[in-house]
Formats: sequence, structure tokens, C-alpha cells
Amino acid sequence: MAIRQIRTIGDEILRKECKAVKEMSHRIRQLIEDMFETMYEANGVGLAAPQVGILKQIVVIDVEDGNQYVLINPEILEQRGSQTGPEGCLSVPGKHGTVTRPDYVKVRALDEDMQEFELEAEEFLARAICHECDHLHGDLYVDIVEGELMDNGEESEEE
Ligand code: NI
Repeated sequence: MAIRQIRTIGDEILRKECKAVKEMSHRIRQLIEDMFETMYEANGVGLAAPQVGILKQIVVIDVEDGNQYVLINPEILEQRGSQTGPEGCLSVPGKHGTVTRPDYVKVRALDEDMQEFELEAEEFLARAICHECDHLHGDLYVDIVEGELMDNGEESEEE
């Protein structure tokens, strides 16, 4: 496993569309392991492959609910309600802002064995899924932030 360099805002790679993963490989398994390690090392709760410079539709999430989610080629099938709250991003270090997201999402994705599954999520997990899926399409939360970006305190969660 290895810590990968996290790309930060201004890097054009964060603005590109990611390609779907067609088959699992040793390289992609390694990438997923590295993404978790990189995310944990940075105290993040989610990371998308373009944030480490790889334009593939892969997301990892750990919002400390006891699960390590791997979403390959994720597609949001349903969304409902709304929640407005603070959001940060490992690619926008030291900042956070207020973002409105759906309060519920249902997502379909492939797991590390390329098996399809559906996941229903609410509240913070729903927010994380939306944030990470946006990364796969070149979208950053700063595009939809309400008001100004603010400086972080010592403790904050970033995606
Ligand atoms: Ni992010």
C-alpha cells in the first residue's frame, strides 16, 4: 500500500470526466487500497480516484458507520429531501462551506469483485456519496457552495 498525492483545486484533472471501469485488475485493487490509505492518512471520509490523479469511476467512503464502501461506476438512481450543512474536500485543503444535498439517495454501483449492488443512504452518508460522485464528473462542492468558503478549525471532516 502507498499514500498517493492528493490533487488540489486548480489541478485540471479534478475537472475532467472519469471513465467507467470495465474489468477489475491487480492495478485497480492496488489503487483502491491506496485510496483508503491516502484518505485515512488525510483524515478524510471519502475520496474519489481523480483526487489521486486517476480518471476512473471509483470512490471510497468511510463515514465511521462501520463500513468501508467501494463504489465503482456509481449511479445515483433516486434522491429525496434536502439537507444543508458544512462540507469540505481533501482537494480544497483547510476550507469548508455550506452545501445543500439530498437527504436520501439510492445508488447502484459495482463492488471490488465487479458485482452490482444498491445502497440506500441518508444524512451524512448520502452527502458523502453525492460529493464523491460529483468528483467523477469534474464537479467540486465549491461550485455549489452557499456563501463564502470558510477556514477550518482544528477538527474537520473532508471528502
Ligand atoms: Ni472531495
